[in-house]
Amino acid sequence: MSVDLVLHNARIYTPKGIVEAGLAIDKGRILKIAKETNLPHASEKLDMKGKIVLPGLIDPHVHLRDQQLAYKEDFFSGTSAAAAGGVTLVIDMPNNKPVTMSATSLKERMKLAETQAVVNVAFHSAFPESLEEIPRIVKQGAVAFKLYLSQKIGGLDIEDDDALLRAFSKAGKMKVPVSVHPEDKKTLEIIKKEVQQAGRRDVDAYLKVHSPDAELKAVQHITQLAQKTNVHIHFCHVSSAEGLNAILATKNMGLPVSCEATPHHLLLSSKHLKHYRTIAVMDPPLRTEKDVETLWKALRQGLIDAVASDHAPHTIEEKNAESVWELKPGIPGLETTLPLLLTQVNEGRLAMSDLIRVASKRPAEIFHLRDRGSLAEGCWADLVVVDLKRKYRIDSSNFYSKAKYSPFDGWKVRGKPIKTFVNGQLVMDDGEIIANSGTSHILR
Ligand code: DOR
Ligand code: ZN
Ligand code: ZN
Repeated sequence: MSVDLVLHNARIYTPKGIVEAGLAIDKGRILKIAKETNLPHASEKLDMKGKIVLPGLIDPHVHLRDQQLAYKEDFFSGTSAAAAGGVTLVIDMPNNKPVTMSATSLKERMKLAETQAVVNVAFHSAFPESLEEIPRIVKQGAVAFKLYLSQKIGGLDIEDDDALLRAFSKAGKMKVPVSVHPEDKKTLEIIKKEVQQAGRRDVDAYLKVHSPDAELKAVQHITQLAQKTNVHIHFCHVSSAEGLNAILATKNMGLPVSCEATPHHLLLSSKHLKHYRTIAVMDPPLRTEKDVETLWKALRQGLIDAVASDHAPHTIEEKNAESVWELKPGIPGLETTLPLLLTQVNEGRLAMSDLIRVASKRPAEIFHLRDRGSLAEGCWADLVVVDLKRKYRIDSSNFYSKAKYSPFDGWKVRGKPIKTFVNGQLVMDDGEIIANSGTSHILR
């Protein structure tokens, strides 16, 4: 018997521990992990030279844009950025032009992604106006719904609790999780009016509006509603101690809740805004050092389920607007998540097992991505080979993303993704995208 590919001489991070072995891949999946003598013959063999093989990252929070926002990012540039960053599966967000909020609009995005993507792509949909559309969206293949509480995106009236409850109930019945952007619209509006009346348009005013209190209120509101149903709520980009503690309290009650943190909320604080200014404005914004420490503690305790980039590319002009109310919040993150996390591993701040849990394993579980997120026999061969010793500086001018800026520009990192395999195919080799088109899957 001959298989498609064998990677030999590797240090493989399997669910059972680290093994120094080889990995046989056939028809896109991991057929066997074993010592070389026990591996089948392969048409192609690659020597991993003792390098580390990890499950490819699964990033559940990515804005791939395209369509009428292709000037910011498109499926090819965004998924190339993913591949360069060792990310083998991204879950796309629905705040597009047009908004992803129906079976038809989702189908359009899938069609476009299918011809361009170089890593696997799954999709969020916003809630539609008519709840009848929900089963059709699920049938079309959305893996989750996304609910923005800061503004209305999609068809659902976010100020109507009954409508929210019906939507949760329907998603719960279909076993589809709901990802929530937790910021309470009314709280934002009240403070925004105040600071705007005072004529403020500076970054600090933005922080005042997008407060921890807005996050807390949204978490409390949603958990109160969700516990009346059996829907799984996934809280996006938790940023403050207040918001996090409210989420952890609901976890303690045994409710089906999960949460993610971003690398920027884990590694930067509002102090960094002085230097990076509008580049480092995102929503939710950077918080205090105390918030950062609280996130780290929870991450190490296994209480934060996922690290997601919230890759949110905009043009540099959109980032540099005069007034903070005009600028577009968000930063690219697909190419920095893994090197930043590997650096934390090297510095002893993060265990490799925690990295794998938050960046691959738990995201696969939460979003029901079957046979992904682990290096085990039978799973898809989505993997990233890393050089844990390689030191370099982050340089956003080399990004595949169209957004060529980053608050991490110039940061010294240690640990680099050097090869990315998607469904058993090598798509990134030493920083170059070499994907054969059609290697990636659109997950339905
Ligand atoms: O910073 C952000 N950027 N936060 C969001 O909620 C939206 C996102 C985007 O789409 O740019
Ligand atoms: Zn968000
Ligand atoms: Zn986002």
